[in-house]
Formats: sequence, C-alpha cells, structure tokens
Amino acid sequence: MYLKRKLLLIFLITLPGVSGETVENGHCAASRKMDEQCSRYCYKIVKPLLQYAASVQSKESQFGELTSRNQNHEATIKSLEDQLQLSKSQQHFCLTKDELFDKIESAIVTKNDNIERLIKELKNIDAKDDGNVMIKELEKKIKELTHETVTQNMHAEDLNAELRKKDAEILSLKSRNIEYAAKIKQLEGNVEAKDDIMTSCRGRGTGIFKIQVTCSKPFEVSCDSSLADSGWTVIQRRQDGSENFNRTMSDYRSGFGTLTNEFFLGLDKIYFLTSSKQHELYIYLKDFNNEVRYAKYTNFSIGAQEENFELKSLGVYSGTAGDSMASNLNMQFSTTDKDHDSLTKIHCAQSCGSGWWFKGCGYSFLNGIYRRVAESKQKQGIEWHTWKLDSLKYVQMMIRPVD
Ligand SMILES: *[C@@H]1O[C@H](CO)[C@@H](O)[C@H](O)[C@H]1NC(C)=O
Ligand SMILES: *[C@@H]1O[C@H](CO)[C@@H](O)[C@H](O)[C@H]1NC(C)=O
Repeated sequence: MYLKRKLLLIFLITLPGVSGETVENGHCAASRKMDEQCSRYCYKIVKPLLQYAASVQSKESQFGELTSRNQNHEATIKSLEDQLQLSKSQQHFCLTKDELFDKIESAIVTKNDNIERLIKELKNIDAKDDGNVMIKELEKKIKELTHETVTQNMHAEDLNAELRKKDAEILSLKSRNIEYAAKIKQLEGNVEAKDDIMTSCRGRGTGIFKIQVTCSKPFEVSCDSSLADSGWTVIQRRQDGSENFNRTMSDYRSGFGTLTNEFFLGLDKIYFLTSSKQHELYIYLKDFNNEVRYAKYTNFSIGAQEENFELKSLGVYSGTAGDSMASNLNMQFSTTDKDHDSLTKIHCAQSCGSGWWFKGCGYSFLNGIYRRVAESKQKQGIEWHTWKLDSLKYVQMMIRPVD
C-alpha cells in the first residue's frame, strides 16, 4: 500500500505545472499554489487528487498518534491489572456456585452496557468527523470526473480505497481508545476500592472495625492492640460467663456472642482469614489471681467446612503458658452435635460442654464452661493444662497476618 501511494505521488508531482514542493507544503498551501499553477483541465483533475494525498498524510499522522496513545493505555492497563492480580487469584475458592453465577451474570450485563455505550460513542464520532464530510464531497467530485479520463479515475479509486481503509482503521483505533479509557477508569476504581477495605486489624487500635477477606462480604471484627503489641484480630474471648459456649456446629460455624464482650468469631471466617495468608496465633490467659500467661504460634490455620475445620497447622510455639495445643494438631472440630474426636466411647464436646479440636480430649479447653472461681480438675472449665488444671478467669484468642 505504501509503495502504491509513493508511486501515485510521483505520478502526481510529475504532472505539468505541479511541483513536488507543493505537495510537501501541506494541504492549504498546496491548494493555493495549485490554483495559481494549474490550467483549467489540470485543476479539475489534479486538485481533488492532491487533496486526497494530503488527506492520506493527515490520516497517517492521526493513525500514528492514536496507535501510540493506545500503547500507553495498554501499559497502564497492564500495570493496574498486575496490582489486582493477587486479589483476583484469590477470588474464587470461597465462592459458592450461586455467587459465581451471580458474578458471571453481572459481568455479562456490564459488558453489554459497555458495548451499547461504545456503539453510541462511535455514532457520535461518525457524526462529528469533518474528514468524513470531506471524503463524501470528494467522492462526488471523483464520480463527476470518471468520464473524462479512465486512467486518472483508476488512480483516484485506488487512492479512495486507501483513504477509506485508513478511515476505518482510525475509527477502530478511536473506539479502542474509548474502550481503553473506560477500562482504565474501571481498573483504577477497583484498585482504589481494594485499598479502602481493610483485610486485617493491622494499623488499627482497639475497637470494632470492618474487614474483608478475599471475596467474602465485609464483616465486623474486634481489633486489639492492648494485650500484646498491635494489630490483632480477636477470634474468641471469655471474661464473665455471659455467653453460652455449649453450642452446635452450625453456631460455631457462623459465630456467636457479642464482639465487645464474649464471643466466638466463627469457623468460616477463621478459615477465610487463615487460608488467605499465613497468620500467627496469640492466646492470652489470666487466672483468678490475675496472673497473666501467653502462648504464641507462628502458623495457625484451619481447613474448610468439607474438612470439618481441621486444625491444619500451628507452626512454632513460644510463650510462658506451655504448649497445650500440640495435641489438637490435625484434629477436626467437634461440637455437642458433631463428634470428630479420637475416642469412641467418650464424646469430648458433650462432656466438656464446648466446641474444640478435641483429640482425647487433650490439654486445652478454652471454650469450656465459665467458672466464677478457680475450680480444679473440672474437665469442663476454661483450662490450659500445661500452665494449671484450674479454670481460668479471662481468655482471648487473637490472630494476625505474618509478613
Ligand atoms: C503454614 O502451614 C501451611 C499448612 O496449613 C503450610 O502449607 C505452610 O507452608 C506453612 N507455612 C510456613 C511458613 O511454615
Ligand atoms: C452441652 O449441650 C448438650 C446438648 O444440649 C448436652 O447434652 C450437654 O450435657 C451439655 N454439656 C454441658 C457440660 O453442659
């Protein structure tokens, strides 16, 4: 195509009375000089052709500009997509089929909306494009000239086709530009929204805050920065016996209690949190003499509902209360209505009156019955046997993402 155009330009500038300079000088200058130099015949035939040539050149530069603008857009989109990559890659494992279906459906609706809007904008561009009006006028003129000289006409049609092709390319570039601009805006919105939603208690003090993990809906949590440095998400608290912890699997799964007082966050949420990122676990313990001890684990995570919320990992223990959780590792969660412990004759959850990762039954009983005084060897109280067998006054379990 380029070669063809070059040949045509050579043909044009070798016509009598038209110098090469005229063509190079651009559209306006060309027409003035041509008016001076051309005979009547020459004027009628050549001027439209020269206008075409100039028009092709201007389209060419528009084309180049649009292409480079699109390349910039592509780079921006890629970098925004990279920023979103992590959250996107984590967005599917916790979706139910219904939620996935809803998501796909809304994506299709958005796509349709986008297409409709693009078509509208394209129509606008079409209407506004002065170049198109000029082309139509020129097409008319070319048709008038057809009977005068067949050779000229052939060249003109060549040029006309090239011009049309350029025009189509420019239109498609323009529409891609609009599409890209819309996409960039949307991606920027996503990145912003992502930054706005907290995914943990990091950077917050002590109190109730909203967080969101991967694709879960935002939910409220109790954040604590008062008991053991900062940024902990509380998953369980016992302090006055106001809440009943002898509950069914369904209750333990969704969570219960009051975030400002006694509560269990819920196994689903603990699973979402600990499976999305490595978390450390901090267990704060206080006895009825107000003595405080703690146990810390570097890599706390539990399985999903299909795995009965198995205690998958604890990592490395450190602390002052001893490691009473070790025997619970790899045990599934048991409740009064779901017996997943390792004993056949004893139902640990029922006899201890609590939900826990019971083995047979183990050394830690942090969801046990709340006792108002230290009672020894109750087997039902809130206990941590590597420290003492007496029931405890205050317990708080907290988790925090590890960098
Ligand atoms: C943490 O535990 C999970 C198993 O739940 C394991 O896949 C991961 O490698 C562990 N991470 C570290 C740092 O030990
Ligand atoms: C816990 O609740 C179950 C079912 O309601 C009951 O059978 C069990 O005795 C209770 N355990 C305690 C220790 O209160």
